Amino acid sequence: MTSILPKRLARPRRLAGNKLLSLVETMATPHQLDRYLELVNPMASVRDLRAEVTDVLRQTDDTVTLTLRPTWQWDGFEAGQFVQIGVVINGVRHTRCYSPACSQYRADGRIELTIKAHPEGLVSQYLHAHAAPGLIVSLTQASGVFAMPAERPEKVLLISGGSGITPVLAMLRTLVDEGHQGPITFLHYADKAADVPYRDELQHIAANRHNVEVVFAYTAQPESSGLSGFFGIEHLEHAAPWHADAATYLCGPPGLMKGVRTLFTELGLENRLYTEEFAPAIAVGDDDATGTISFTASSVEAENNGGTLLDQAEAAGLTPEYGCRMGICFSCTAVKTSGCTKNLKTGETDSDPDQPIQLCISAAVGDVAIEI
Ligand SMILES: Cc1cc2nc3c(=O)[nH]c(=O)nc-3n(C[C@H](O)[C@H](O)[C@H](O)COP(=O)(O)OP(=O)(O)OC[C@H]3O[C@@H](n4cnc5c(N)ncnc54)[C@H](O)[C@@H]3O)c2cc1C
Ligand code: FES
Repeated sequence: MTSILPKRLARPRRLAGNKLLSLVETMATPHQLDRYLELVNPMASVRDLRAEVTDVLRQTDDTVTLTLRPTWQWDGFEAGQFVQIGVVINGVRHTRCYSPACSQYRADGRIELTIKAHPEGLVSQYLHAHAAPGLIVSLTQASGVFAMPAERPEKVLLISGGSGITPVLAMLRTLVDEGHQGPITFLHYADKAADVPYRDELQHIAANRHNVEVVFAYTAQPESSGLSGFFGIEHLEHAAPWHADAATYLCGPPGLMKGVRTLFTELGLENRLYTEEFAPAIAVGDDDATGTISFTASSVEAENNGGTLLDQAEAAGLTPEYGCRMGICFSCTAVKTSGCTKNLKTGETDSDPDQPIQLCISAAVGDVAIEI
């Protein structure tokens, strides 16, 4: 097994280095040292975490797989977590979340992302069409709680659909690197075989590991060696008859997520199910909503419809920055100068003026003024 230890050992040395950097940066004012360095070499950064795209692979018609070489600040990740990358398109930086698909022990320290090009998607379409070796992107440290416990469960069921393959593939590759001996089933949903990135590798893993079973389920193509149609109890029993004793990790489109959650709840197994969402599941709109939203920096006003402030700003013709649209990346943070807002994730309300709020998970309760 290769080791990820260097990232942990690097930290104390980094603290001492940070003091020296602060001194040098003070001397380099008015701009941060990184602003000078990036003019010479965009990868020579003292503070900003960035990455260079070193390889680009288009495994299927609508996906692109990028290999990233991060700068020295990168701390590594746990299989299942996500990173944010920032891509400049027409002079504007856009940030999006992506889950590394590689093993957390990858020997060369690089990160592999597989991105599905959404039909209307700004960043995913851009990367699918234009990503090439040499492209520099900004990068954040990994975050997210979708990860396996340090003491691995003996039986592991990994369920994915579409682009949701990435975090659970990282888990599979990590378990394989660890020499995990308990049963693992990888159950993946797609319209058809041609849509599945990593199909050959998955079959190769299954053929060479006595404890790993890979099952493909196609919703638009009969599958002689696997399953057809949508997730249900028959698929679960076929793929992992031992599912009741397993830890199950799930990531996929909303329909698959709902189907698995519903069945696991009926079976009383919801506490053994761990999930990751790629798309927001926040309810939009409220017929009883009242008040006016004032977007003060743009001099635009809109009648409050109870939806998220991000949706309402966009509907009013504004283009505030966003990343995840589900409250995890903070890209959409803006200052509420007055009024009451409700956090749609927690239900908490906030009436204090001049508060930073996340537009994507906040709704107006009556009149609200936002500084965008
Ligand atoms: C934690 C996390 C991990 C993620 N990991 C991956 C990954 O490994 N691979 C990957 O391909 N994507 C992943 N995503 C989704 C990714 O962050 C972007 O949402 C996606 O690439 C679309 O961005 P875009 O700029 O192309 O679309 P945008 O321009 O932002 O959106 C265009 C349209 O597409 C819709 N849309 C946006 N995102 C989705 C979505 N995820 N599903 C369905 N419709 C959507 C929007 O509602 C909008 O109508 C992840 C998201 C999260 C929150
Ligand atoms: S867009 Fe990520 S927190 Fe709002």
